[in-house]
This record gives sequence, C-alpha cells and structure tokens, in this order.
Amino acid sequence: MTTSATTAVGIDIGGTGIKGALVDLQDGSLLTDRIKVPTPKGAEPEDVLGAVRTVLDTLEVTESDIPLGVAFPAIVKNGRTLSAANVSDAWIGFEAEEFFEDGLGRDIHFANDADVAGVAELRYGAARGEGGLVILTTLGTGIGSAMIYNGVLIPNSELGHLNRANHKRDAEAWTAYSAMERDKLDWEEWAARLQWYYSHVEFLFSPDLFVVGGGVSKHADKFLPLLDIGTRIVPAVHRNNAGIIGAAALALAGETRTTRDGAAEGLAEATTH
Ligand code: BGC
Repeated sequence: MTTSATTAVGIDIGGTGIKGALVDLQDGSLLTDRIKVPTPKGAEPEDVLGAVRTVLDTLEVTESDIPLGVAFPAIVKNGRTLSAANVSDAWIGFEAEEFFEDGLGRDIHFANDADVAGVAELRYGAARGEGGLVILTTLGTGIGSAMIYNGVLIPNSELGHLNRANHKRDAEAWTAYSAMERDKLDWEEWAARLQWYYSHVEFLFSPDLFVVGGGVSKHADKFLPLLDIGTRIVPAVHRNNAGIIGAAALALAGETRTTRDGAAEGLAEATTH
C-alpha cells in the first residue's frame, strides 16, 4: 500500500468493538474501509492484542514505517493503563503501550479513546476553531470524555464516572448508550437520563460547547433536540470514526511538528509521554 508522511493508522479499542483504518491527516478522511472486529469477551490483554493484529492484517498495514496510534478505553498515563471499566481488570496498572509494542513488533502511540476523539474533533470536526472549554463525550459501551481548553487537551478527565447522589450506578452505567440498550429505553426515556447527565456536567464545568460522539451520534436528531441545557451541544462530525482519526493524528504528531497548528501541538504534547 502506498502511504505518505501525512498518513497514519488509527486503531480504536472499545468495550464492544476494535476498529481501525488508514487515515489521511491532511483532512482527517479515511483512506481505507473501516475494519471492525468484536472486542474479545473479557477483553484480556492477549486476546485484545490478537484482535488488533487481525485489524492490522486486514488493513494490510503491518509495515512498521506507517505511524500507528492506538486508543484504549481506560485512563492512560505514561503508557500504562490505570483503570478498567469495560475491559479485564488485568489492564489496571498494566504497561499497555509496551505490551502492544512488544506484541506488534513496532512503535505505537497510545492514549485514551475519548481524548483522541477530542483531538480528531478539534483538528477536523465540530470543535475546530472553538475557544474556551469544549467537552466531548462519547456515548457508547461507556461514557468517555475529553476536555479541551483553548485548544489544549486536559487528558484523562473520566467524566463518565461521575457519581449520582444516592445511586449505586455511576453516570456511565445509567446514561451510556449501552444503558439505553440494556434497559430497553426509547429516545425520550434515554434523553431524560442524558438531561440529568449534561445538566450536571454543565453545572460542574460551565463549558462553552459539548460535542457528542460515539456511534449513536448518527441519530443525534432523535435525542439532542430533547435536551434543555444552556450550553451549545452538537454531534461529533466524525461520529464513531473520531477515535480512529484521533489515534492516527496522535501517531503522526511526532513526525509533522512543523506542519501542525498550535492547538494540535498542545494536544500531541498532552497525550503522548
Ligand atoms: C472509561 C474511559 C473511556 C470510556 C469510553 C469509560 O468506562 O473509563 O476511560 O474513555 O469508557 O470508552
């Protein structure tokens, strides 16, 4: 496959699926089909590694000269995963970046899935050119969050795990898209939970813009108009591909320092180690 200095591979590991594509980082478009395999049951490290290999093999991008970014649904600090909400507990305190690098036999760039989705929307999507505080949330198996202040990512915000007063289940367990499916909610019922969630986050952080990502953002017209909050709230332009695009953008960051804009540079610094 022909690649250039502005292409990179992004892999987005989620609680339900592992997705990947080759990305053109001039405009954030996908240069290949999006390949998706189910996240192996239990999401143990070896099984997840095997699934990532399958995605790379299918994409025919196993050459190590194509930058590779991998996004993961957990707190990621200095290459280690520090939490495990929808994956095996084996990831807690795990040298995940090193594990993937050894297993794939190549360098990777590794970061939280929602953080990279925020990077993608900042560079190529709904948050482009936005000042102030942008909070991107991904509504999927869990709820991920990316907080971006004046174009700089504040990594690992984990706003999906806000507690609900007097409730056992946290925000994510009550409000993620998986909760809508699990509890068989219709759009109105789910929107009532989202109303609680976004009002609460709005009260805590007074953001200037909410961006809503995750696969369900393609149905944004069914639930965003039902929300009554003071903050602008818009769907992610790249919907469920934002994680792939952001992971790829992160991977290329080290190679294109001179062509990145200031905002993206701040993000790359913040999400790599
Ligand atoms: C995890 C986050 C992740 C989000 C979306 C949450 O359960 O704690 O790290 O970003 O799910 O995948």
